[in-house]
Amino acid sequence: MLRILVLHGPNLNLLGHREESVYGTATLDAIDESLIKLGGELGAELVIRQSNLEGELVNWIQEARRNYHGIIINPAAYTHTSIAIRDALAAVDLPTIEVHLSNIYRREEFRRHSYVSGVALAQIAGFGAIGYLLALRGLCEQISVTGSKRSSGGSASVSGTKTGAH
Ligand code: DQA
Repeated sequence: MLRILVLHGPNLNLLGHREESVYGTATLDAIDESLIKLGGELGAELVIRQSNLEGELVNWIQEARRNYHGIIINPAAYTHTSIAIRDALAAVDLPTIEVHLSNIYRREEFRRHSYVSGVALAQIAGFGAIGYLLALRGLCEQISVTGSKRSSGGSASVSGTKTGAH
């Protein structure tokens, strides 16, 4: 079974109540539930975490090296500022999909640069909550094509775990 780590960055715990015209009305819980459901259909076990802290995200990325086949990350505002998150992703060298709810290229100038995209397999931006599901489908497909670097070794059950501020 594939193990995928899903990371949500700062302020994404406020989804559903935060700038709805930009980010939509789906809450993070609703997004996570839809991801876990799709993961079940695709045979992927998801661990989902949210943090408002850069270092915590870096720690979780580092830990992923031994335990996961791929990463889906919405680094939120850290997209545009964090060399530390980029370096952590480069270090673990797992297939990574960068997700943004909004189309960051149609917004303020400062959102048009991503430190993460240079180490990501792909970036999905502008599809709202559906972008996470597209990312999961694409990542599972990619891992099955390229072959997983790690043996599955775990249980066959479908599950999802969540931690974070929401
Ligand atoms: C975001 C875009 C970022 O620019 C912003 O700081 C966010 C959310 C998105 O999902 O569209 O917090 O990553």
